[in-house]
Amino acid sequence: MISGRGSNMIALADAVEQERIPGAEIALVMSDQPGAAGLLRAAERGLKVLVIERGDRTREEHEQEIVAALVEGQIDLVCLAGYMRLLSGYFIDAYRGRILNIHPSLLPAFPGLAAQRQALEHGAKWSGCTVHFVDETLDGGPIIAQSIVPVWEEDTEETLSERILEQEHLLYPKAVAQIVRGEYEVLGRRVLNSQ
Ligand code: GAR
Repeated sequence: MISGRGSNMIALADAVEQERIPGAEIALVMSDQPGAAGLLRAAERGLKVLVIERGDRTREEHEQEIVAALVEGQIDLVCLAGYMRLLSGYFIDAYRGRILNIHPSLLPAFPGLAAQRQALEHGAKWSGCTVHFVDETLDGGPIIAQSIVPVWEEDTEETLSERILEQEHLLYPKAVAQIVRGEYEVLGRRVLNSQ
């Protein structure tokens, strides 16, 4: 599920194509934004795309349509990739333990919007990205994998975001492959690699 550029979605699609996520198939690229650049990139690659706008509906009405489409498409795993909406308990219940997200900070530091700017403004010396299970909390679900990058004094939000994004494109496919292979166990907040 994407809302924008879709570079993480493309990284996942590349990984599937190159069989780095064995047995996986990108069944659907869904966006809440009809203008999302990633939709075009997905369609160009022959991936099935679907736009479900929220319009003036409630969050739950919007999510009911999305969940119905996911069930119809027999989706097993939902990967949020720059999907910029909070999911309600309704959605999370429907796909509990089967929704992943990538976030551009070392969670639990800097959840929410503009994580890279938050890291810079806070004066962090290291930042990175996190792949985690999605639960009802904001970017607070159990952590599956993280990568770290340095924050340089001369960094701007753009340069730091680029450095983190490079790592996102490596980390997300690896984390999805681990989950797809079932090589994990969740113990409370901890996700253990059971390989
Ligand atoms: C990525 O940096 C992703 O981590 C971030 O949005 C960007 C989407 O880029 N997600 C969030 O901030 C979610 N809280 P992309 O559309 O090119 O994958």
